[in-house]
Amino acid sequence: MSGKEPLVLRTPSEMTDWSGAARARGERVAFVPTMGALHEGHVSLLREGRRRGDRLALSIFVNPTQFGPKEDLSRYPRDLPGDLAKAASAGADVVYVPGAADVYPPGFQTYVQVRELEQGLCGGARPGHFVGVATVVCKLFNVVRPHVALFGEKDFQQLAVIRRMVADLDMGVAIAGMPIVREPDGLAMSSRNAYLSPAARRRALALSRALNAARARAEAGERDAAALVATARGVLAGEVDRVDYVELRDAATLAPVTTLEREGVLLVAAFVGETRLIDNVRLVP
Ligand code: PAJ
Repeated sequence: MSGKEPLVLRTPSEMTDWSGAARARGERVAFVPTMGALHEGHVSLLREGRRRGDRLALSIFVNPTQFGPKEDLSRYPRDLPGDLAKAASAGADVVYVPGAADVYPPGFQTYVQVRELEQGLCGGARPGHFVGVATVVCKLFNVVRPHVALFGEKDFQQLAVIRRMVADLDMGVAIAGMPIVREPDGLAMSSRNAYLSPAARRRALALSRALNAARARAEAGERDAAALVATARGVLAGEVDRVDYVELRDAATLAPVTTLEREGVLLVAAFVGETRLIDNVRLVP
């Protein structure tokens, strides 16, 4: 099924004008920011955005400031024609595709830092990553001026950072967090899964299996964070090449947890070959 071709806008002023016209008509603007190479996870956000807004905007921008110097910025998957087809079938009205110089013109020097939530987890492993994310999402919100923006729980810490930024800076954008979309065998969908060889993809299943094993132990009554983490690490061992972290955090605050007393989230980041993958699962005591 394919919908109407979305409008493609490339400059901030065109995007803001489009949004301003929609707002002037009294329409509610929903927004899904992405880095492209769209998959079913992104599409789930678009479909929900379609339900929550009268107009649906998607952005595609591979944001250089959230990549470390040794990370995969230059080889990050890009597929604009494929993305536009998926955007059309998911009902996007407009696709904002700015160039790097539109977002970061010469002289650019203002950054947004969410000082505590950016610490640890992916922020510990990727210094500066969440400053890049918060800065670009702030800029995208200022240009797209949405009423509601949708983010995936796949990037759980990112979602917490964005919620905090929006509250702290009075941005007035409603933030919707959406469940992780998985392949039938459990692998969390990610643009980076395209990097995996068939053998690496089989090993990557260890992430979701590790989280499921820990969840099964929590459901059987285990509340000790160290034991739940050890269960997950046991499944990862021998399958992935390096574990960045396995941590139990409070699902509402992201604070570290030693005993599962309220809803928690178990988060994992691990390398399979050169590919860094993340996943998480909520644990209810
Ligand atoms: P990207 O990795 O393209 O993801 C865009 C959005 O899709 C994020 O909100 C992410 O959490 C969500 N998403 C990715 N995989 C998902 C899955 N399997 N299930 C559900 N949602 C999923 O996240 C970014 O881009 C960038 O950091 C961005 C916010 C666009 C800022 O540059």
